[in-house]
Amino acid sequence: MVDTHAMTLIKSGRLVTAERSFEADILIDGETIWAIGANLEKAGVEIDEIIDATGKLILPGGIDPHVHLDLPMFDTVSSDDHYTGHRAAAFGGTTTVMDFVPQPENGSLAEGVAEWHAKADHKAAIDFSFHMNITRLDAAIEAEIPKLLDLGIPTLKVFTAYNGRLRLQDGEIFRVMQIARQHGMLTMLHAENGDVIECLVAEAVAEGQKDPIWHAKTRPAWGAVESVLRACALAAQADAPLYIVHLNTAGGAEMLRYARERGAPVMGETCPQYLFFSDEELEREDGAKWICSPPMRTRTDQEGLWNSLAADQIQVLGTDHCPFFYDGTTPIEYEGQLVAIPGKELGADDFTKIPNGLPGVGDRLPILWSYGVGSGKITENQFVALTSTNPAKIFGLYPQKGALRPRADADLVIWDPVKRLNYGVQYSRHRTDYNLFEGWPLTGYPEKVFLRGKLIVDGDRWLGQAGEGRFLKRKAGAPLL
Ligand code: URP
Ligand code: ZN
Ligand code: ZN
Repeated sequence: MVDTHAMTLIKSGRLVTAERSFEADILIDGETIWAIGANLEKAGVEIDEIIDATGKLILPGGIDPHVHLDLPMFDTVSSDDHYTGHRAAAFGGTTTVMDFVPQPENGSLAEGVAEWHAKADHKAAIDFSFHMNITRLDAAIEAEIPKLLDLGIPTLKVFTAYNGRLRLQDGEIFRVMQIARQHGMLTMLHAENGDVIECLVAEAVAEGQKDPIWHAKTRPAWGAVESVLRACALAAQADAPLYIVHLNTAGGAEMLRYARERGAPVMGETCPQYLFFSDEELEREDGAKWICSPPMRTRTDQEGLWNSLAADQIQVLGTDHCPFFYDGTTPIEYEGQLVAIPGKELGADDFTKIPNGLPGVGDRLPILWSYGVGSGKITENQFVALTSTNPAKIFGLYPQKGALRPRADADLVIWDPVKRLNYGVQYSRHRTDYNLFEGWPLTGYPEKVFLRGKLIVDGDRWLGQAGEGRFLKRKAGAPLL
């Protein structure tokens, strides 16, 4: 536990916020920031510890609003749970994550939330929060949606794909948006064309197609583009805020911009996989490692997404962290234990049975820093906005989270901007057997990570603990960015 009276001074770092960068000291009082300014050792309070951050950057802890931990899928489960995923997030400089609660097949939303708390609360090692999936709508569910606010959940996730499992019809999505609007809630949406996918998958299976590339071939980019526009149009007609998750195409980003320019209350997220990889990866022998939905597309799509980030037309970089082992028959060592969890090999003979999802929660900040800020595609202030401040604002946590200012939680990253390393599983600490960025050279990396004033990562030392992460009850009425 944090000593609630301990005063820690982080001296002479360069603070990077979403708005500006400046030299200052930060004085932490227990769990929160007490003061920011020059020469704070002379502030007239007794200081317990001084950390010299000369030459280092101080960032607000990363906030990843899109992770899937311990998520049942096909005949397995995503391989990071609410401890291992939190630990990996922390090593990468992220101190808050948001997970999605599956809607129970028959039960109430509250039962789903209770089940997710039972999985998460005792394991949580960083602060966390939930979104609620709405995958079946009837009068009882409509009536229950506003009650999610009492549980601290003001965000609803809907899908235009995954027919027969998760998808709602357009009229139902519109209804969810209307309810969300009435109660100051935010709808999040996975945009692909479920009907086209269903048709193309049936054709591919009938033809005997087995390889991972068919995952992308049966989920065409046009389906994502049109369903982004369709969803934005629904949001405009419901006058309800909408957040499109994991934009994977330049066209989808253009549709988002089109809608925003016409006053639609819409925002968007992309993820590292869509900025750095294309569907060519699925042609590799180990292509199953890259299977996620929606799939990665072309280099032109990558470029369009980068341009939208740089122009502040996409507001958040999340990860959609949903890892599976590549070879779940061969154990890896994790915190001294051998662990194997069935993974991508389940679809060795059938691309439709490969669990879809990728590791990424720990990669997000280091990769975006080196290949986004380092390459001059975005500024360091945009980096903080995309990975921390904007998600804090959009999801109702600001300024408790995502801010360097007095009274904010002392979720801080001391970032070494000149540290060089070759990235990969050794650093990412996801509980899986591969990393998409294996061997990528990085410049810039988290050195120390604080969660509410407690040092939880110190270089390669893990000082966090299961159960220390706190569930964040979020409020309705968050702003549109
Ligand atoms: O393939 C993915 N992204 N799996 C996680 C579920 C989702 O659609 O976000
Ligand atoms: Zn999705
Ligand atoms: Zn997802």
